Amino acid sequence: MHIDNRVTGETRFVGLIGNPVEHSISPQLHNTISSCLGVDLIYIPFKVEEAGLKDAVNGLKALNIKGFNVTTPYKKDIMKYIDENSKEALLMGAVNTVKNIDGRLYGYNTDAEGFSRAFKEEVGEGFKGKKIAIIGAGGAARAITVKIAIEGAAEISIINRTLQKAHDIAGIIENNYSMNVGCFGTDEGAAGDALRQADIIINTTSIGMYPNTNESPLKKGIKLSDSQIVYDIIYNPSVTKLLAGAQRYGAKAVNGLGMLFYQGIYAYEIWTGIKIPKDALKHINESFVN
Ligand code: ATR
Repeated sequence: MHIDNRVTGETRFVGLIGNPVEHSISPQLHNTISSCLGVDLIYIPFKVEEAGLKDAVNGLKALNIKGFNVTTPYKKDIMKYIDENSKEALLMGAVNTVKNIDGRLYGYNTDAEGFSRAFKEEVGEGFKGKKIAIIGAGGAARAITVKIAIEGAAEISIINRTLQKAHDIAGIIENNYSMNVGCFGTDEGAAGDALRQADIIINTTSIGMYPNTNESPLKKGIKLSDSQIVYDIIYNPSVTKLLAGAQRYGAKAVNGLGMLFYQGIYAYEIWTGIKIPKDALKHINESFVN
């Protein structure tokens, strides 16, 4: 721990609101970006209780914050305090990045954008024309499903324990992108078919996340193939049980660290207007990981 002597009267600040925020690695990421780019901007996490959300937003505005991230459990609730939510954020039903321009708040969702960019970087191709199976139907699933529909997925299936939640997301896609989405309960045999036939499988649930590293969202007996890509939005552990299984079948396995990295990069770009060059990204990534 050191006191940062770069902070002066001119330093601007951004931050994070949520509960809990103690485990977040966003402060480390954003402060690394500022250091690498030489930008006089610091990032501070704020733990906010539910009853204090409105006051927190007004307080941050009064203190002239440049922008802030929003994490669990406020990604939906925050939207009512935003003056203008992006079209994508409205469809995704969640805002994780807010920009403050002269007291007017603008809401964005960079989680899905970060997911898309990380996927393309690590896999070398996008979602156009692909058959995609999404596991889970919560907030992350909704944002990712909207994103892959926008980016031209050919077929989407959603597999979830609570079938109705899969149908809810399917309805949003069907109304806005005139494509059909298959919905399956976790225990249905047809869920297994959708998973086996998919080009890309995306786990959006927390199943397998530390400390429950022995769990997998894939039912026993579902065999994958080496032509498939399995993306797990979990990054701790870096190789989940799902990804280890995928690797045994020769499938390409990708974890959620890149998504976390790029959602932060996009947020930083939104706040500052800086387009971070490729070589700087590499440097930030190396400094951040180490
Ligand atoms: P997030 O915003 O991170 O997506 P969420 O909205 O709580 O989080 O959604 C979590 C998703 O993971 C849900 O689809 C949930 O299934 P239900 O809709 O049936 O609740 C799924 N999920 C989480 N833990 C699970 C478990 N142990 N078994 C099956 N599904 C699980």
